[in-house]
Amino acid sequence: MARIDFSVRQMTEADLRGVAEVEAGVFTDWYRVHRRDPAPLPERTLRELHYASSRDPEGNFVAIATDGSLAGFVFSRTWGRVGWFGTFGVPTQLQGLGVGRALVDRTVDHLLSRASVVGLETMPESGANIGLYAKAGFVATHPTIVLELSLIHEVDRLKGLGPDDVLAWGTQEDGARTRMLDEMREISDAHLTGLDYAPEIEGIREHGFGETFLSTGPGGRVDGFAVLRTEPFRSEGTSGRAYLHILATAPGSDAAAVVPHLLRAVWTRATSIGLSSVVTGVSARYHCALRLLLASGFKVRRAAIRMVEQTAAPDIFKPSVGINVSRWAG
Ligand SMILES: CC(C)(COP(=O)(O)OP(=O)(O)OC[C@H]1O[C@@H](n2cnc3c(N)ncnc32)[C@H](O)[C@@H]1OP(=O)(O)O)[C@@H](O)C(=O)NCCC(=O)NCCS
Repeated sequence: MARIDFSVRQMTEADLRGVAEVEAGVFTDWYRVHRRDPAPLPERTLRELHYASSRDPEGNFVAIATDGSLAGFVFSRTWGRVGWFGTFGVPTQLQGLGVGRALVDRTVDHLLSRASVVGLETMPESGANIGLYAKAGFVATHPTIVLELSLIHEVDRLKGLGPDDVLAWGTQEDGARTRMLDEMREISDAHLTGLDYAPEIEGIREHGFGETFLSTGPGGRVDGFAVLRTEPFRSEGTSGRAYLHILATAPGSDAAAVVPHLLRAVWTRATSIGLSSVVTGVSARYHCALRLLLASGFKVRRAAIRMVEQTAAPDIFKPSVGINVSRWAG
C-alpha cells in the first residue's frame, strides 16, 4: 500500500474549522457514492463541534500531513466505563493510505485506558469500514435500528395522554438536580455495568442543546428519562428534526406507561419550537425497547452496523429486556 507521511495528535479548538470543512467534504462524497445523494452536505456548526469534542476532550485526534494540512480527524465520547468513537473521516483523496488505521489505533488505545467497553457504529454500505474495524479488533454485534417519529402524525396519540409526573431536569433546584442525576446514573449502570449517561445529560444542558425529561415513580424516584436534543448538527439545519439522544427506564418500572409519558414531553418540547419529527436509534439487543418505540409510532428508517472491541465482557453481546435507547454515533 502507498503511504503518506503524517503525524497524529490531539485535536485542539483551533482545528475545529478545518475539521468542519473536511467532514462536510468527506461525507458529501460518501453520500454521492453510496446513497446517490448529490446535494452537498452543509458543514457541522462550530457549536456542534465544540459539543462533540467536549464529551471526552482528550479523546479527539487529528492527522496532520507534512505540509501541515488536515489528513483526518476522529471524535470520541466516554460515558463512564463505556467509550466510543465517531464521527471519523479522512479526505477522499487520502483514503486507503493508512491514515484512518493510525487514527483508530490511537483512539482505541486512549479509550481502552479508561473504558471497559469500546464501540462504534458504521454504515452497512461500507465494506471497507467493516474490514478496517474488524482488522483493528472490533466484532460486529446487534445492529442499531434508526427510527423516526413524525410529530405531526402523532399529535392525537400523544396529546391524549393524561397528566403525569414528567419533569424537566434542567429547571430543577441544584440539590434535586444532583439527586436526580445520581438516580439516572444508577439506571444507566443497571443496563450496562459502568455505563454513565451523566456526561451527555450535563452536556446537553451546559451547551443549551435541549432538555432531559424525567419520569418519577413511588417516593419521587426517577424511573425513566429522555434526553432530547433540539439543536441542529449542520449549518443549514432545516431538517425539522429533534434527536431523542437517550431514553432509559429503571429495571422493574412499568416501561409501557413511562415511555409514552416521556415521549409526550418530547413531543411537547419539540413541537413548541417548530420541529416536525424525532429521530432516535436503539441497539437491536434491546428488543423490548425497539418494540415499544414501534408501538409508540416510530418507523424504522434504516440500520447501522454496531461493533464492539473484542475484549469487552460477553454480556454486551446478549439480548436484554431492558429499555436503553441510545446511538453510538456523533
Ligand atoms: C473510514 C475512513 C476514515 C478510513 O480511513 P482510511 O485512511 O481510508 O483507512 P486506512 O487506509 O488506514 O485503512 C483501510 C483499511 O481497511 C482495509 N480495507 C479496505 N477495504 C476493505 C474491504 N473491502 N474489506 C476488508 N478490508 C478493507 C484496508 O486493507 C486497510 O487495512 P490495513 O490497514 O490492514 O491495510 C475513510 O475511508 C473515510 O473517511 N471514509 C468516508 C467516511 C467514513 O466512512 N467514515 C467512517 C464512518 S464509521
